Amino acid sequence: MGFKEKLRDAEKVLTFNDVILLPGFTTVEPDEPDVSTRVTRRRFLNIPFLSSPMDTVTEAELAIALARTGGLGVIHRNCSIEEQVAMLRAVKRAEAFIIYDVITITPDQTVKEAIELMERHNIHGLPVVDKNEKLVGIITGRDVRFAEHSLKVSDVMSKDVQTADEDITIEKAKEILHAHRIEKLPIVNEKGHIIGLITMKDLMLRGKYPNAARDEEGRILCAAAISPFDEKRVEELEKANVDIIVIDVAHVHNANCFKAIKSILKNTNMEIVIGNLGTYEGAVDALTQLDGIAGLRVGIGSGSICTTSVVTRAGSPTLYATLSAADACLELGVKDVPIIADGGIRNPGDIAVAIAAGASCVMMGNIFAGTRESPGHLITLEGRYYKEYRGMASHAAKRKLYAMDRYPAKAIAEGVEGYVPYRGTVEDVVTEFVSGLKATMGYVGARNIKEIWEKGKFGVLTQAGIRETRPHDIFMPTRRFGDNEI
Ligand code: XMP
Repeated sequence: MGFKEKLRDAEKVLTFNDVILLPGFTTVEPDEPDVSTRVTRRRFLNIPFLSSPMDTVTEAELAIALARTGGLGVIHRNCSIEEQVAMLRAVKRAEAFIIYDVITITPDQTVKEAIELMERHNIHGLPVVDKNEKLVGIITGRDVRFAEHSLKVSDVMSKDVQTADEDITIEKAKEILHAHRIEKLPIVNEKGHIIGLITMKDLMLRGKYPNAARDEEGRILCAAAISPFDEKRVEELEKANVDIIVIDVAHVHNANCFKAIKSILKNTNMEIVIGNLGTYEGAVDALTQLDGIAGLRVGIGSGSICTTSVVTRAGSPTLYATLSAADACLELGVKDVPIIADGGIRNPGDIAVAIAAGASCVMMGNIFAGTRESPGHLITLEGRYYKEYRGMASHAAKRKLYAMDRYPAKAIAEGVEGYVPYRGTVEDVVTEFVSGLKATMGYVGARNIKEIWEKGKFGVLTQAGIRETRPHDIFMPTRRFGDNEI
């Protein structure tokens, strides 16, 4: 092929803004659609949203809030293994009936240490165990509130501890906690060793989030990002009960990444989502060479903080990447490896477009960075609220040195840092976005995600169409909430 032909035969690489979903005959009212979906081979979500593994987006607080609404948080990896595991543990402990990963203290430690431990883990009581893990007492916030910091835990703890065995039912646990007016019920084995803990707080939360994404034991789901070259992290995350591992590199269709992923797949039964992919060929190679992968994260360079396509002129817009991966799945007859469309989502319509292109879920960074539960600071600028948001290949994020291998070029930034408008709580955002997605499903006539795949028909807009399908010929002197989405 001549060089000129390259341009003549170039594929049209469309993005969200280039297309529109055509309305279809509908019997679906906007509150009727079911937006539950598959996120990996084995796991399902009640809403099709994941939060990006970025250090201004997903730490424990956001992961808890999002999973409670039915979505999934992917804890970022721009930190030590210990820090990431601690975040994961906080999520898995958030609502367990029995917490198995109990934080304990010994009788000869000090009140000061007990206070520090409680503060660090945001908990209000610690079972006290001796050297042999035998339960010998319990110490709570009330015991330490006015106590001398130098006292020993054994001086202030309650020694008369109510306990239960592992077979206890929720009803019985509630009864004991109520009868003894206590907040915590340690679970012990026949030797008196602590094996778990039931807390009143967790029991009270049960039933409060019926839509939450949960594991088999009722704990909320949590995913975590890793480098493909960090098997140690996989081991530690697995021990801490991570539900899904997300391989987190900018371009996973790479010989070294594939080799490393093969090794991970060989050594674990965890569900592994890989990404990011941008092409049909990449998806085919992943599906045929990486036996057992649980999902494909697709889209390169469309993220709101990305400068990959500016700096390198390489990239694959999320819509194009999704269509390409979906065709690969279709052609290979792969039905249970879902596609997660990642990057560039600004409004519920983009989500519907991504799903119509074959995605099962979308991943959002910008949108969730603006919520109360994201890690960044809330700031005011000219009377408006904003939160920090930065690309993982921005200079600031790279300075932490943990996610350096996400981007191939070490010396240049492929992301920017800045601020996004504050959007309220995760629940507010999810409510707004789910309602918008359901409205699109109403226009399309789709009752569920599968029906969007079948019935969602695209129209390609011209420049005139792009202009006309946004507010136009109107003077809007004040900027209102949501204006940044159009
Ligand atoms: P949104 O549009 O939701 O996109 O902000 C989030 C996604 O962007 C990717 N990401 C980056 N891509 N440079 C990039 O080229 C970066 O610094 C960067 N940081 C994150 C990532 O896929 C995320 O989910």
